[in-house]
Amino acid sequence: MHAIEQGVFADPWSTQDFRDCIASDAVFLVAESADEVAGYVVAIDAADEGEILNLAVAPWGRRRGLGRALVERVLDVLSGRGARQIYLEVRESNAPARALYAAHGFKEVGRRKEYYRRPVEDAIVLRLDA
Ligand SMILES: CC(C)(COP(=O)(O)OP(=O)(O)OC[C@H]1O[C@@H](n2cnc3c(N)ncnc32)[C@H](O)[C@@H]1OP(=O)(O)O)[C@@H](O)C(=O)NCCC(=O)NCCS
Repeated sequence: MHAIEQGVFADPWSTQDFRDCIASDAVFLVAESADEVAGYVVAIDAADEGEILNLAVAPWGRRRGLGRALVERVLDVLSGRGARQIYLEVRESNAPARALYAAHGFKEVGRRKEYYRRPVEDAIVLRLDA
């Protein structure tokens, strides 16, 4: 996961960030393909809200439905834990991820100005009413 993360994001999570999530109550799902980690999704929840914190599929595993499967599964788990609204942030220019989330019913509900670094860019806040 660390290797995928480093290759995919300009401002990646550290190994410690992943360890902290694994040690916590976060939802942490991994997609495997040919015995290799091909992708992962991390989410948290509290009361009736959930938030997807991280999602990535390795470049070699893309466009085969793994991203969709990870999102569907994490939504199921969050909903099973009682989440009724699920949030996430996405770079404004991230067309693949925005298309994936839109296909699952996420709607734009806000914008965080210059939220991301390297490069600086606005985050679009999306919400799904589950
Ligand atoms: C976004 C990401 C997780 C998609 O993973 P994936 O396994 O390739 O996605 P899937 O094959 O399941 O595709 C599901 C849907 O996503 C959208 N999508 C995926 N890649 C796309 C692309 N390059 N361009 C446009 N839409 C795309 C499409 O709607 C697609 O449905 P379709 O195949 O019926 O057209 C992957 O591109 C990725 O890891 N990107 C870098 C990390 C990232 O942006 N994470 C999200 C941060 S908020």
